[in-house]
Amino acid sequence: MSPIDPSIGPDRAREVFRAELAEVRTDAELQALRTRWVGRKGSWVAAFMEALATATPEQKKPVGRGANELKKEVEAAIAERETALASTKRPPNAVDITLPGRTPVLGHRHPLSLIRDEVIEIFTRLGYQVLEGPEVEDDYHNFEALNMPAEHPARDMQDTLYLTRPMPAFAPDGASAGQARRSHAPQPRTLLRTHTSAMQIRHMEKHDPPVRLVAIGPVYRRDNLDLTHTPMFHQVEGLVVGKGITLADLKGTLTAMAEALFPSTRAEGARSGQAADFIRFRPSFFPYTEPSAEVDIRCIKCKGSGCAMCKKTGWIEILGSGMVHPAVFEAVGYDADEVTGFAFGMGVERVALLKWGVEDIRLFYENDLRFLEQFGL
Ligand code: DAH
Repeated sequence: MSPIDPSIGPDRAREVFRAELAEVRTDAELQALRTRWVGRKGSWVAAFMEALATATPEQKKPVGRGANELKKEVEAAIAERETALASTKRPPNAVDITLPGRTPVLGHRHPLSLIRDEVIEIFTRLGYQVLEGPEVEDDYHNFEALNMPAEHPARDMQDTLYLTRPMPAFAPDGASAGQARRSHAPQPRTLLRTHTSAMQIRHMEKHDPPVRLVAIGPVYRRDNLDLTHTPMFHQVEGLVVGKGITLADLKGTLTAMAEALFPSTRAEGARSGQAADFIRFRPSFFPYTEPSAEVDIRCIKCKGSGCAMCKKTGWIEILGSGMVHPAVFEAVGYDADEVTGFAFGMGVERVALLKWGVEDIRLFYENDLRFLEQFGL
């Protein structure tokens, strides 16, 4: 903008001012306009007043009035524009709705939940029912009814965590703990279940055959934390009872489950054309099954050639299983001449370690998101 010539009269000056005001877009431009027109020094008004000093007395009055009016007008117009500009400004803490949105962070299922859900899916598809049961158990369901009477050496297969005081709910024949104490009857020992096998008994006590169930949940053992042990971990128990259930059913079912859980290892076996290259049943011992078998799958890491993970055997154990022992049927009042069954127990953490090649079981419990977010939703 050129300097304003004070020799132009108020009327012409008004037109120039209006035109300039119309161009103003920002606060800074408005302040500059104010200085140029009505500022104390060098403005049009200041220069005009100076020029007026040399005017004749007759001229002074009307011209001076005209200049004063223009000054007021300029100030009013600027003030008005100031308010208009302020009203279009964003308030200090306003939300800027033009910013791109932040996508919410989606949570993940825990890797152990993924395995649990996968197992549940496999078995519900096969028509099994899914159960949960108490983690605080009594000696009877955890050991005795599973053909492990007191002093049975097989109880030492698992180091048990006992509660110092028995739970009233687990006293024999519904007697309260107080009654048991008064009569000096031996107290039933209450413990944290060492395996989910207790659920076999709990279910068969209440339901007639046929049975097809899986029970999933935490189990507890007196183990110190290390790469492969935690004092609490999870198991899946399976039980099938009915007329004419055989070892072939056990093998078929557990092979189908292992194939579904470890599809890539299975694919390796498929390439060689033999299921036997993927899974094997190895004779073993459990008091509640006869015969018993442990199930191994081909080592996930070395595919069978032998490595540190499989201790050079090429095989990795994934579960224990067997045909239900007649003593177990007797404990729950099933007729062992009428029905047969198979059962299995599998560690959930173990499956997860193998499936994803995780080398430290403790990672599942440390809640480190960098670890947990690597698994699917
Ligand atoms: N209870 C066993 C364990 O904790 C696993 C097991 C083995 C469960 C054989 C069974 C079975 O039902 O038949 O290691």
